[in-house]
Amino acid sequence: MNDGYIAVLDSGVGGLSVLDELTKAFPNERFLYFGDNDNAPYGDRTENDLWSLTLKNIIYILSFNVKALVVACNTLSVTILERIRAFVSVPCFGVFPPVERCLINGENTLLISTVKTAEKFACYKNLQVIGLPNLVKDIENNLFSLNKVDIKRHLLNSFNRCETLILGCTHYNFVKFGIIDHFRPKKILTGEEFTVKQVETKLRLKKSLENNKRFNVLFVGKNSKINQIFWKKVVKNI
Ligand code: DGL
Repeated sequence: MNDGYIAVLDSGVGGLSVLDELTKAFPNERFLYFGDNDNAPYGDRTENDLWSLTLKNIIYILSFNVKALVVACNTLSVTILERIRAFVSVPCFGVFPPVERCLINGENTLLISTVKTAEKFACYKNLQVIGLPNLVKDIENNLFSLNKVDIKRHLLNSFNRCETLILGCTHYNFVKFGIIDHFRPKKILTGEEFTVKQVETKLRLKKSLENNKRFNVLFVGKNSKINQIFWKKVVKNI
């Protein structure tokens, strides 16, 4: 029985890399993928523009039996995720460049992303940020033929050296080979891992809510009933 799809949304093919991680993590779930390839790239659009495209797309996506929505796009996540969350009635997850983690660890970090995402992180101290205006478009149009030289052409003016390189756009997963070759970082990070963890936590809690009304928690004391009810609400609202 299909208890609902986990829907994955991106501007185009980039979210397929997130879908790949999700299908590995949840082999028993069913997925629905929507890429807005006609309107890609998103990275240089205004927030209002992104919202009107996304609104139309999520209304379409929600016409299927959807139990969770993964916004597999850094650009949408850093700009309008809260608006999307306010609109949809199912749990909704985004993908974010894991910048804070690297800065807390004092790592020499470089974020490469779309221009829109780069704008959001431009104010971070001790973070190098590069917004690439045309790489997503090239990946959308030439995914199967891009080689290291093509990728380098997009990165040509950026000779930044870094310990940690963050890929702040899900499309870049498909051209990692060229990006690594150019920057030669010690470590490469993306936001997907955390997204998968969040979905996992949510689905696990939901299952325990359905299968075991006590959630394996023993509520004790005078107010245990109130706390138990509150717990259910918290679990439902996560
Ligand atoms: N995959 C999207 C992201 O992660 C690309 C956005 C775009 O279409 O420019 O940002």
